[in-house]
Amino acid sequence: MKILGIETSCDECAAAVVEDGTKVLSNVVTTQIPFHAPFNGVVPEIASRKHTEWIYDVVKEALDKANLGPQNIDAVAVTNRPGLLGSLLVGLSFAKAFAWARNIPLIAVDHMMAHLYASQLSCDTPPACPFLGLLVSGGHSIICRADAFDNITVLGTTIDDAAGEAFDKVAKHYNFGYPGGAVIEKMAHNGDSGAFRFPLPSLHKGAPSKEGSPSREGGHRYDVSYSGLKNAVINQLDQFRVKKDGAVQPAIKPEDIAASFQKTAVEILVRALFNAAADTGLSTIVAGGGVAANSYLRARLAERQDLRCIFPPPEFCGDNGAMIAGIGFHHLMRGDRSPLNVTASARVEGFKKKYP
Ligand code: KG4
Ligand code: ZN
Repeated sequence: MKILGIETSCDECAAAVVEDGTKVLSNVVTTQIPFHAPFNGVVPEIASRKHTEWIYDVVKEALDKANLGPQNIDAVAVTNRPGLLGSLLVGLSFAKAFAWARNIPLIAVDHMMAHLYASQLSCDTPPACPFLGLLVSGGHSIICRADAFDNITVLGTTIDDAAGEAFDKVAKHYNFGYPGGAVIEKMAHNGDSGAFRFPLPSLHKGAPSKEGSPSREGGHRYDVSYSGLKNAVINQLDQFRVKKDGAVQPAIKPEDIAASFQKTAVEILVRALFNAAADTGLSTIVAGGGVAANSYLRARLAERQDLRCIFPPPEFCGDNGAMIAGIGFHHLMRGDRSPLNVTASARVEGFKKKYP
């Protein structure tokens, strides 16, 4: 089964052809970063316009690279949630037209479930359910339990900013570049992660209940928070900018800021994740999303030899069409089909919540 996957939820215009859920025949990702970089963030209006301009060529390139024509495609999978509505609608409309013209199934896919699936695109021994998921992107930070590819229960989320968003905002404030994650990781290689001690949020005081699941009252043991860290890092700059009584201020090394921030940002994630592993007894962790490309996060998780941590290769961490086509295959095999009037949604839907 050859599935065309289309992804336009944010600022990557992407398409891929994947055979039988795992064999990537082509994977084309065109990034709009240069168009958004002057604004230090994604401008939704620019994003949807660029998707409209690029989508045809991107899909054509994905077919060409796979040495296939539209007549060789068995189904079209497309992200229809969550994301920027205008951007989602471009990919969704294109996918509908393709499916209608070829009279093949259309499968609307959840972007975050696809991120969780991404590691299976290259994994020889895919993880057996249940496992813990760590979904970390520019818009979401989710610690979850997966009982099937689309049966996901959210155990914890961010209570304010997402992990990737914190990288982006710190980079924006310090003018490190956009998007912030990859830039900060690169700078951190030449910095001292002990140079600044930034605070960890005090969210995790509660003990697990008898059933092994904490109540909200018992503390957000699997939740994360980034606004405190973000403000502390940003204030660090302001503090050094202010000349007090003419005293000479110590020079601040940007690489030290990057390394110290990255260390704390990752610590926030792994602390909540390790709580979830301890309380649920699940020892397999599958990561996904742009932040999962971070090598410090990978190294930090690798320290826990009692856990099996599975990461997608870097090219499948960020947004891509292969993960959409890959998970689309599993929907197709189960008999799922989306009607041609299926809509887009900006929100995460279909994830079960641990808490009401
Ligand atoms: O999954 P993704 O490509 O798009 C969304 O669905 O949001 O994630 C993008 C996010 C951005 O915030 C970016 O700064 C972050 O992932 N990111 C990283 C790294 N590469 C990308 N964060 C930390 N370290 C990285 N190496
Ligand atoms: Zn994403």
